[in-house]
Amino acid sequence: MEITRVCVVGGGTMGNGIAHVFAQKGFSVTLVEAKKELADKAVATITRNMDRQVAKGGLTAADKDAALGRLKTATSIAEAAGFQLAVEAVPERLDIKAAVFKDLEAHGAPGAILATNTSSLPITDIAATLKDPSRVIGMHFMNPVPVMKLVEIIRGKRTSDAATEAVKALTVKLGKIPAVANDFPGFVSNRVLMPMINEAILCLQEGVSTKEDIDTIMKLGMAHPMGPIALADYIGLDVCLAIMEVLDKGFGGVKYKPAELLRKMVSDGKLGVKSGAGFYEYPKK
Ligand code: CAA
Repeated sequence: MEITRVCVVGGGTMGNGIAHVFAQKGFSVTLVEAKKELADKAVATITRNMDRQVAKGGLTAADKDAALGRLKTATSIAEAAGFQLAVEAVPERLDIKAAVFKDLEAHGAPGAILATNTSSLPITDIAATLKDPSRVIGMHFMNPVPVMKLVEIIRGKRTSDAATEAVKALTVKLGKIPAVANDFPGFVSNRVLMPMINEAILCLQEGVSTKEDIDTIMKLGMAHPMGPIALADYIGLDVCLAIMEVLDKGFGGVKYKPAELLRKMVSDGKLGVKSGAGFYEYPKK
């Protein structure tokens, strides 16, 4: 089945980035958000990010207009009916995702591939209540989606070879590189990344160094584009905590225990860039 129509559910940081790249690469995209204001906000973000690409010479103004012309919004999955691929990017709660997938199964074209951008929930659990879990797969994009080359593809226990190959080919069409992981807690990306971020937060908590110096050490010493503390703010401290909790629950032991300082930041409402403050301050522009 040729994939030309894509439904992206959720227009937050990841969802708007995912809709952006599909529209830019020629797909007809329906972005589904719970409320019209949220959908409009997502389109405004996409437009701003495309303007930035135009200003930097990575996209022509005509291609930007064409991409935005391929992007529609909706407030229900039913309005997007007939899509051949869905990518879900709603909050990281199994009950919310399971409800979205029921809806996606009801409204996709026959045989449509149903992908989730979850950063750590088991694909097998998300697919568990569906009639055909073989079409459910993880398509884990990295933030910022228009820039980052990787798509981590996660096979649930019942994901078919056909769905995996189709999603790998699609990733290449998006100008990105696929890498496949099996359905273990945190997959590969977050099983490796999050304990590093958590350890950096422990270094801060224990007074090993300042946040600035921890970031400088990792940026210049390990050639990371961002230090781990700044990256945690960028990802969202609530997201980092949720992923550490999945790892802790999945594997146990001291290694995956979330840092107390991370818990405190989240309970204080300091979530990073998106809330205006995390370990660093992000004044509204
Ligand atoms: N849309 C479009 N373009 C964007 C963009 C966006 N949202 N954000 C940045 N860009 C572009 C900029 O326009 C710029 O383009 P040029 O190269 O053509 O000039 C380029 O990206 C670099 O951006 P900046 O010059 O603004 O800043 P920078 O050089 O400091 O790079 C960064 C910013 C790309 C975010 C870089 O710091 C970086 O790669 N950081 C690490 C990001 C990372 O690790 N992401 C993964 C997080 S983990 C995750 O997402 C998964 C999970 O489950 C938690």
